[in-house]
Amino acid sequence: MKHLKLVTQSAVVIALMATGFTAYGGGDVVSKASNIGGIINTRHNMTQSFLIPPANANVMDMARNQYGEVCVYCHTPHAANTQISLPLWNRTIPSTTYTTYNSSSMTQPVSQPGPNSLSCLSCHDGTVAIDSIINMPTTGGNPGSANYNQAQETSQNSTFLSSWINSSGINPSAHMTLSSPAGCLLCHSTEGTGALFPSAASFDVFVIGSDLRNDHPVGVRYPAMGPGVDFNATTGTHNNIAYFDGNGNSKLDPGDIRLYNTGQGFEVECASCHDPHGVPSNGVGTVNNKAFMRVSNSGSSLCLTCHVK
Ligand code: HEC
Ligand code: HEC
Ligand code: HEC
Ligand code: HEC
Ligand code: HEC
Repeated sequence: MKHLKLVTQSAVVIALMATGFTAYGGGDVVSKASNIGGIINTRHNMTQSFLIPPANANVMDMARNQYGEVCVYCHTPHAANTQISLPLWNRTIPSTTYTTYNSSSMTQPVSQPGPNSLSCLSCHDGTVAIDSIINMPTTGGNPGSANYNQAQETSQNSTFLSSWINSSGINPSAHMTLSSPAGCLLCHSTEGTGALFPSAASFDVFVIGSDLRNDHPVGVRYPAMGPGVDFNATTGTHNNIAYFDGNGNSKLDPGDIRLYNTGQGFEVECASCHDPHGVPSNGVGTVNNKAFMRVSNSGSSLCLTCHVK
């Protein structure tokens, strides 16, 4: 079955190539997203509308539902996920158990990733389809029919997702995850042998997986300040967030590194360092810090916000 699916997919790809599709040139692969001014211009735009002409984005229409809206892959204005404390969350969060970071030199307890990491991991651990949402848009491919499925909160139902029809007419039934090799890495891999599009941007390193032992610890409690503690003290709090007030305006800004307290004390999570919408490097209209960082890590300034080293 798996092989059959790959053959069908290859046929679609070859058909698209025949329609004049052009991929990246070889060598140093750069993003076609400008990374300036909002998430729409970043790689977190799952509609890939920044790929011009649109036919180039259509190549992805077999890989994921093309909802034609940027926010909906993560948020919904109504009927959001009630199982997790995240803003109007529209994505499936299964009860995955992660292998957490561990090392003998650590001083702090590490728990399972909290909500502010599970959000990212709902794509980046490679177990959930990029398009697995609870409340699909009513405009577009599937007007008027059942676009909402509450069970999607905790488990992916591909039959439900397949009721969506992409406007390109390409059947999106693959509902790919970021994982390798049968997911997005089918094309977006330089490590995999026989990637269908070896020239497409490689996402190999973006697959964090569910083994977090080779990643900066998340779900790790921030140490209490005191003599001999080689960490900086936060300089502001906002509800359950403690933050380093980068510009000294006494407000929580996207560019402020932060810690989240979701019941186990203030902890480092993925969103401590990253803002999934992108943060301008030098004020409105400037290019975002790379890799969705809240601050530039030039001179290791990100690391030195917390660590005294
Ligand atoms: C059939 C092959 C194929 C599959 C499968 C595929 N892609 Fe792509 N993707 C491409 C090609 C080719 C490009 C480059 C298009 C261009 O440059 O115009 C691309 C470009 C992109 C880009 C823009 C990269 C950039 O920064 O310029 C993103 C983002 C993207 N794909 C996401 C995904 C995601 C997410 C998945 C899985 C859900 C996926 N793709 C699956 C072939 C594929
Ligand atoms: C790739 C997933 C993703 C997409 C797409 C996305 N967001 Fe978010 N958004 C998040 C996550 C994750 C958080 C929670 C961040 C945290 O943990 O602090 C968030 C938080 C927010 C918040 C509240 C806190 C904050 O950081 O400001 C708002 C408002 C928001 N998003 C609006 C939007 C809008 C509007 C769009 C579309 C233009 C959008 N988001 C697209 C992932 C996404
Ligand atoms: C809707 C699925 C989804 C969610 C949710 C999501 N990501 Fe991503 N992210 C992707 C995909 C797919 C890529 C790689 C392909 C691409 O470029 O779109 C990516 C790329 C990235 C990159 C690399 C960007 C670059 O230019 O190097 C970073 C960093 C990243 N994500 C961090 C995060 C963090 C942190 C969160 C949570 C706050 C998050 N992502 C949430 C899908 C997601
Ligand atoms: C302590 C800060 C910190 C935390 C916590 C963190 N990251 Fe990152 N992440 C970074 C930095 C710094 C980079 C940029 C590396 C570079 O320049 O290539 C990065 C890069 C990435 C990339 C791009 C691939 C790469 O290696 O360059 C992805 C995807 C990503 N992070 C996802 C996540 C996810 C998912 C989590 C939570 C499980 C997370 N990050 C937690 C600091 C952090
Ligand atoms: C938001 C605060 C924060 C930021 C930013 C941060 N860290 Fe950490 N880091 C921590 C905490 C807390 C621990 C757990 C320390 C412990 O248990 O002793 C940790 C652990 C580590 C460890 C593991 C220590 C061990 O004993 O195994 C390393 C290495 C590390 N960080 C490096 C970095 C680097 C490199 C960066 C920048 C890319 C960075 N950190 C950014 C808070 C942070």
